[in-house]
Amino acid sequence: MPNLQYLRTFVLLLAIALMAFAVGCDGESADPAGGDADTGDLTDSDVGGDPDVDGDHDHDAGGDHDHDAGGDHDHDAGGDHDAGTDTDCVPSEAAWDSHASAIVDTYCSDCHGATPQFGAPFSLTDYQALVDGDQGDRKVDTMVQVLMGGQMPPAGYPLLSEGELHDLVAWASCGEEHPEHGLNLEATAPVWEAPAEPPAGVESFDITAGGYAVGPTVVDDYRCFSVEVPVDEARFIRRIEPIIDDGRVLHHSLVTISRGGAVSPGSFSCAGFPPGDDYLYAWGPGMSPIQFPDGGLRLDPGDTIILQIHYNNGAGVQGVSDDSGMRVFHAPTEGPEYTMAELGTASIFIPANSQAEASFECTVNTEVDLEATWPHMHEIGSKFEQFVIRDDGSEEEVVSLTGWSFHAQRIYHTPMTLFPGDRIRGKCTWDNPHDHLVHFGPGTADEMCFSFLYVTPPVADFCG
Ligand code: HEC
Repeated sequence: MPNLQYLRTFVLLLAIALMAFAVGCDGESADPAGGDADTGDLTDSDVGGDPDVDGDHDHDAGGDHDHDAGGDHDHDAGGDHDAGTDTDCVPSEAAWDSHASAIVDTYCSDCHGATPQFGAPFSLTDYQALVDGDQGDRKVDTMVQVLMGGQMPPAGYPLLSEGELHDLVAWASCGEEHPEHGLNLEATAPVWEAPAEPPAGVESFDITAGGYAVGPTVVDDYRCFSVEVPVDEARFIRRIEPIIDDGRVLHHSLVTISRGGAVSPGSFSCAGFPPGDDYLYAWGPGMSPIQFPDGGLRLDPGDTIILQIHYNNGAGVQGVSDDSGMRVFHAPTEGPEYTMAELGTASIFIPANSQAEASFECTVNTEVDLEATWPHMHEIGSKFEQFVIRDDGSEEEVVSLTGWSFHAQRIYHTPMTLFPGDRIRGKCTWDNPHDHLVHFGPGTADEMCFSFLYVTPPVADFCG
């Protein structure tokens, strides 16, 4: 039914929009998955931000493929930072004024105020006093240590959210240190890990930001880069890898595809959801590359791929020119064709200071093979469960998560066949620490309960 189709597309786009918004609203910046921030990459030139599409690499197994999620992507042309060392970190005063001081004010200044109280050894409110002294011994340096070690704020005092903790540490360490997220998260299914190398014989192209300039006070910049796919016959996307150039400013990125090229190539501002018909993949801290065991997602000549990057220069790093993006590996249209389907509910009401749940359920109408599942909630999620209830009444778990971290979202490997008559049931649980009701909506203060599924054949409406 066209209406349903429309609704689903809308819900999907909305979901992405909300995710993008939500991620944006806490003023958080990314820590790169699987590696350290790539600190050697500052270039002073090439700040145009034109999308680059760099096609036709031939990738044989074990070939010259040199990007990984850790981003060792060296184009250090006249950069003025040394990679991976503690030299020359002067935390940005502009970033202190624009957001870091507000975090200290909320969580530290009861004790570390202008006049220290309750045994606190010093004030943390004055920028100059924080950065004075020899590097390693300054107050900012001690601050990084106590924050990374979890010693401050003292037990019993309000804790920083993961986003705030990340921002403060990023600021104080010039983007060098990244608190680990998701330590309390346990999943019943393994993370969908792509093999280290792409399959033999595939080709690839990159879509990247092309040296996009990110200023030192940029907290939320949503930028889209779209390119026409460089293929001259139908292909399957076999694998997608994030390219992490300057991980210090990268919050998250995602790729959609516009069928038939309704979106023109170019670079434009795109707060909210990026245009496009189908959603292909998202990268955020903690996400791995994806690779289909066989077959993949469809790519046709004339399609446009849209890369959206959410930039957040929480550390206030100067002179950033970023070339992050995605590497798309494709092969002839052999094997199963996949699509990403979405399930979930917008019926979310979480009363102040309490725990609440929301459920979704649908009945499978077309047999599909499910390969992987990406559960999605926002910051106050605490638990996610997804089951299949077979026609005979038996239950099988798809994936359940105990604990939740908005900053460590992952796609889980959940291979199983779903048959007509099976019911898929999901449940999200939240713990609301706030003094107000939380509901579905666009923002960190709001919540979501979605499950994105890679299925084949590509029937987005397989469960209604
Ligand atoms: C409830 C009061 C209180 C709050 C809130 C608090 N601190 Fe402290 N802080 C102390 C006390 C007391 C000490 C000294 C004794 C100790 O180390 O426990 C201290 C020590 C420190 C030190 C010095 C540690 C060292 O080894 O020299 C740093 C740095 C620090 N706090 C940072 C912070 C930051 C950053 C925050 C906010 C995120 C914060 N504190 C919040 C009370 C507090």
